[in-house]
Amino acid sequence: MKEDFLSSALIQNDLDTRIIGRKIHYFQSVTSTNELAKQEAGQQTPEGIVIVAGQQTQGRGRLKRSWLTPEGNIALSVILYPDISIVKYLIMMASLAAALSITSVTGLETRIKWPNDVLIKGRKVCGILIETDIRTDKVNYAVIGIGINVNIGTEELSGVQTAATSLSIETSGELSRLKVITELLREMDRLYISLSSSSGGEVYEEWRDRLVTLGSEVRVTAGNTVYEGIAESVDPDGSLLVRGSDGKLNRVVAGDVTLRR
Ligand code: BTN
Repeated sequence: MKEDFLSSALIQNDLDTRIIGRKIHYFQSVTSTNELAKQEAGQQTPEGIVIVAGQQTQGRGRLKRSWLTPEGNIALSVILYPDISIVKYLIMMASLAAALSITSVTGLETRIKWPNDVLIKGRKVCGILIETDIRTDKVNYAVIGIGINVNIGTEELSGVQTAATSLSIETSGELSRLKVITELLREMDRLYISLSSSSGGEVYEEWRDRLVTLGSEVRVTAGNTVYEGIAESVDPDGSLLVRGSDGKLNRVVAGDVTLRR
């Protein structure tokens, strides 16, 4: 898509946000936007700076996996310095912002697979990796890394382990990454401001209502432990509650979910 050119100025000019995106750093190619963002955050760069890359050579996923970012996709990381009380909501606000922005640009229905994968028709279109540096209740930084499959075909996705899709596959046409990025940053800004000014309840409820996981039979891998059962609910702190066949309710704080049906 020829008109899908990106630059710091182009993204910046389209934004009217208060915190997230007050400065954009665009790079054609980087190892990992999260890696760069963490280096900048360590130097106390202002909150809300966003690192965007046209391509990542060592993109990182959750649970030490790698993340594919060839040209045509979106890879960005946002640097934040939230209060400790807000940290548990970052997963919710980031996945909700991604889901809402994808729907608003494409009209496609989006759901969230706990804790923060965004799905279209059951296939993963967006992954989120949040890395924090917290020492004795003080948040030194939180970096929210978001990867969205935009203009990428089925062949390029064939090496990916989980069932994946892209916006261009789902809409049968190429999409403007600029539109998706600006909409995503606007939604994140709105939700982040609402988190700082409220108790986070609204973000929690909207995230919970979009979870495809609830009510489903799941297999959750959390470290060396595997839980199987029905995903009954999620707590306001983000943990997943899984009812096993023995009737016991297990609380999972972090892990990887496979939907059984
Ligand atoms: C996952 O689903 O496993 C999370 C994927 C997160 C990928 C994004 S792309 C931008 C940022 N930089 C990285 O290296 N990873 C995140």
